[in-house]
Amino acid sequence: MKRKKIAFVGAGNVGATCAFLCFLENLGDIVLYDILEGIPQGKALDMLEAGPMLGLDASVVGTNDVSQIAGADCCVVTSGSPRKPGMSRDDLLRINAGVMKEVGNAIKRHAPDSFVVVVTNPLDAMVTQVKRVTGFPKERIVGQAGVLDSARHRTFIAAELGVSVESVSATVLGGHGDDMVPVRSYTSVGGVPVERWIAGPRLEEIEKRTRTGGAEVLNLMKTSSYYAAGAATFRMVRAYLQDRKEILPCAAYLEGEYGARGLYAGVPVVIGGGGVEKVIEIDLTAAEKSAFDKSVAHVRELVEAMDKVLAAAA
Ligand code: 2OP
Repeated sequence: MKRKKIAFVGAGNVGATCAFLCFLENLGDIVLYDILEGIPQGKALDMLEAGPMLGLDASVVGTNDVSQIAGADCCVVTSGSPRKPGMSRDDLLRINAGVMKEVGNAIKRHAPDSFVVVVTNPLDAMVTQVKRVTGFPKERIVGQAGVLDSARHRTFIAAELGVSVESVSATVLGGHGDDMVPVRSYTSVGGVPVERWIAGPRLEEIEKRTRTGGAEVLNLMKTSSYYAAGAATFRMVRAYLQDRKEILPCAAYLEGEYGARGLYAGVPVVIGGGGVEKVIEIDLTAAEKSAFDKSVAHVRELVEAMDKVLAAAA
């Protein structure tokens, strides 16, 4: 049986962490592409040399030649500048919109049938840009954000209550910014609504920590999160390659769902062999819907700001 091919466009911390998880799970052959000379080659060789200890024979190739992503089944896009301390995700808009144009064109040319997971920030605008440039159908372009944000929320709730993370279900929707929406009515511990476990004011503090979870890590280690971001991306890649039909919160292209149209925002979707097979519409309370709408309005502003930057550069 032919092995799947997974291409990482961007071999920085998030890309390499996700690649290593894919390698460990034997999901397929791996190509690490980056413009930095030596980095993808070195990381690929290092990863490959872990193989004998783990009984893994997948091929891992590092390259500065983007044509080596040819024929990939799945492309993970992490290229671009990461957030530095004091920078908002939106500050990255200018730099990364241009990078997404190049990346989108390369994927369209070399891996035209791939499923594309975009991770680069500001996420909701960058995934929009990749969709526009590639012209791929909405089923084949998705953004990673909600899996990470929901995992952070689960981490904090589990720690608060001293229970396993596996006993906590949480869904964080909206844009991948500080106004993302931890959805209380779909957050539960052992199947019991979270509000029965944690009092309102404390829950608000935990939700705030989740919304600013990326900045918390960034401020500590002076670079963007990568273990959790890499693991979140891995979950999406695996759901696609193994046709798992997992319901995961992801940035999906909306065409009327949740009252939003023509943009990407975090919603629950089914990821399987068909890519984003379905957007699941869940009932939100009035407060949750209003917070979601506010977050989506911010995504729209971000995309408009990106359009202005791109028009000015043209
Ligand atoms: C985060 O939330 C990098 O945006 C990513 O940590």
